[in-house]
Amino acid sequence: MPFYHKLGKIPPKRHTQFRKPDGSLYAEQLFGTIGFDGMSTNSYHEHRPTQVKEIRKQYNVAPKIAKANHIQSYRFRGFQVQPENDYLESRKAVLTNSDCTIILAAPKQSTQAYFYKNTDADELIFIHKGTGKLRTMLGNLDFKYGDYLLIPRGIIYKIDFNTEDNRLFIVESRRPIYTPKRYRNWFGQLLEHAPFCERDLRQPQELETHNEKGDFIIKVKKQDDIFEMVYATHPFDVVGYDGYNYPYAFSIHDFEPITGRIHQPPPVHQTFETDAFVVCSFVPRLYDYHPDSIPAPYNHSNIDSDEVLYYVDGDFMSRNDIDAGHISLHPAGIPHGPHPGATERSIGQTKTDELAVMVDTFKPLMVTEEAMKIADEEYIKSWLE
Ligand SMILES: [Fe+2]
Repeated sequence: MPFYHKLGKIPPKRHTQFRKPDGSLYAEQLFGTIGFDGMSTNSYHEHRPTQVKEIRKQYNVAPKIAKANHIQSYRFRGFQVQPENDYLESRKAVLTNSDCTIILAAPKQSTQAYFYKNTDADELIFIHKGTGKLRTMLGNLDFKYGDYLLIPRGIIYKIDFNTEDNRLFIVESRRPIYTPKRYRNWFGQLLEHAPFCERDLRQPQELETHNEKGDFIIKVKKQDDIFEMVYATHPFDVVGYDGYNYPYAFSIHDFEPITGRIHQPPPVHQTFETDAFVVCSFVPRLYDYHPDSIPAPYNHSNIDSDEVLYYVDGDFMSRNDIDAGHISLHPAGIPHGPHPGATERSIGQTKTDELAVMVDTFKPLMVTEEAMKIADEEYIKSWLE
């Protein structure tokens, strides 16, 4: 998060004595990224956060690849992913490369028996269905339909759902996820031409502090293995923190679309960036207003990036036979464009209600075995007249 946040109790000067009412010291932890060069947070714990009792299990959760090299456009029917009780087991990686993994999940139950920590990747969780509360060591965030939850790597969390009907679209990123640099000034403040501002980014306001000892399981993901680590103290024992590295939420419904007289290119929809992929939000908006404008996009050849669109809601103007929860994959190397009839159909229309999330990766994506279970292999022919 590119701006400063403070929650709970902290001492006036960092790295100085900060004592509990009984006179003992709180345990300070500097939690940083990119060595000591990236964003960091300074937190104060009831107990030292280093008290490992044992490592109980280790198992691999790397995505199983079905198609590594390919040049095929696919449609995946995301809602065919079966709901599962456990949050981590419900997460099905569908597309992956060395920079990121795209995951679909339909978890039915809140995480109760364990905490989760992903040290490999930042997680961007888009809430397609469901409401609840993300609980983290640095505070909680309520979520609902349309929210992006950004959890920087290493933040310990649990997720509570209010009902069993939940659908998540998750991007794991091995590079930090930021808001686009071109929308920020040299101080990091979001500029006037940005499609959102600081008021739209929700920071944790509710800090849970558990001063407890016992056996606390943290499932730690590292190098695609899960290590079940048992800690002697509750991982949510922070009494206060400040800094820049913390989870936050942003609703896609707060993204203000940028429109024009003629078709605007995908970068106007950009919401997040990394140096390996971008995330864009397609939201309800007015169409282009040149008298001869064509609202549907032109054919385009994303020769060096794979395009993943996750369809959330509304009628997606350029595609035929696309429903909520579908993913389209248009791979690098070949052109794609509107489906037959979509260009003519778009002319004269004044607005769209479409809602979609797009992930464009610079490296090709591999298709997983889980993805092939919900794949439409005929989609490649869907542009034929
Ligand atoms: Fe495209």
